[in-house]
Amino acid sequence: MLTGNRLGAAEREVRVAEIEDLSPRLRRLRLLPCDRAPMAASPGSHLLVRVPGTGRAAAYSLIGDPETMAGYEIVVRRSERPDGVSHRLHGLAVGARLSVSPPRNFFAPAAGARRHLLLSAGIGLTPFLAYARAFPPQVDWHLVQIVRPEERAAFARLTAPFDPARITLLDGRAALCWPDWLDQPLDTHLSACGPAAFLETVCGEAAKAGWVPARVHVERFTAAEGQAFEVRLARSGGRLSVCAGQSLLEALESAGVSVAYLCRGGVCGACRVGVLAGRPEHRDRVLDAEERAGGKVMLACVSRARDDALTLDL
Ligand code: FES
Repeated sequence: MLTGNRLGAAEREVRVAEIEDLSPRLRRLRLLPCDRAPMAASPGSHLLVRVPGTGRAAAYSLIGDPETMAGYEIVVRRSERPDGVSHRLHGLAVGARLSVSPPRNFFAPAAGARRHLLLSAGIGLTPFLAYARAFPPQVDWHLVQIVRPEERAAFARLTAPFDPARITLLDGRAALCWPDWLDQPLDTHLSACGPAAFLETVCGEAAKAGWVPARVHVERFTAAEGQAFEVRLARSGGRLSVCAGQSLLEALESAGVSVAYLCRGGVCGACRVGVLAGRPEHRDRVLDAEERAGGKVMLACVSRARDDALTLDL
């Protein structure tokens, strides 16, 4: 299991081989392993990327062709936080060196599905670029991508390699007519990736339209949306603040508190921590209904506080 700020013994050093600035806040990076060892990743995989000197890691979906793997390709949106990983990645030049985890996959395309409806908002597009490259010709798929008008050109560039008949770019979520898009053949699987509010809307609209949960698959691409809150660490007596735009896991790491993690996306369960006081706002896909209702545990990589403060069993 990986802990704290380390990506683990299996991490490898990579160098930045190519940079493309797609927009003022979106940057595509191609990373090549320094050891030239073979690379492999299935569609939907992500890497944890650590920037030397920060001790911080962030998860990025791989967008390249899993077959050819001409480097690990990722797209990084520069966040508002000037001390975050994304800012550091936007400041790098070709030749810079980074550490990455092995690729991990918690969001593979639904096996055996003959039709896929892919819904993404913003940088939630990234896992679907790998899906689109990997789908065999007999699989029917369509991607609906929500973009900010000022970033339409960047997303058009990312989706340019694919059949334009399979791609719909919409300016803003309001442009998405849910009943039309959710009226699909019965054997269709719906996969969605994007910010929390978008995914909540997807799941709500899909349920209204009669989609069974087994055919709806979601991945959250950022854990840091939400209000700031305070954390008290009961065992160590420490206190820390989780800023808006920062996850609880990131805040713990910044304070030197070691917490295990694997996915940093609320799907593996590795970062489970006990809650002694306060109400967690659960955003993971791991805890069962009883654990959610009980409020005694939470997953630090994605979940936050409903109120101003939490006390953790740390
Ligand atoms: S690290 Fe996987 S659920 Fe938090």
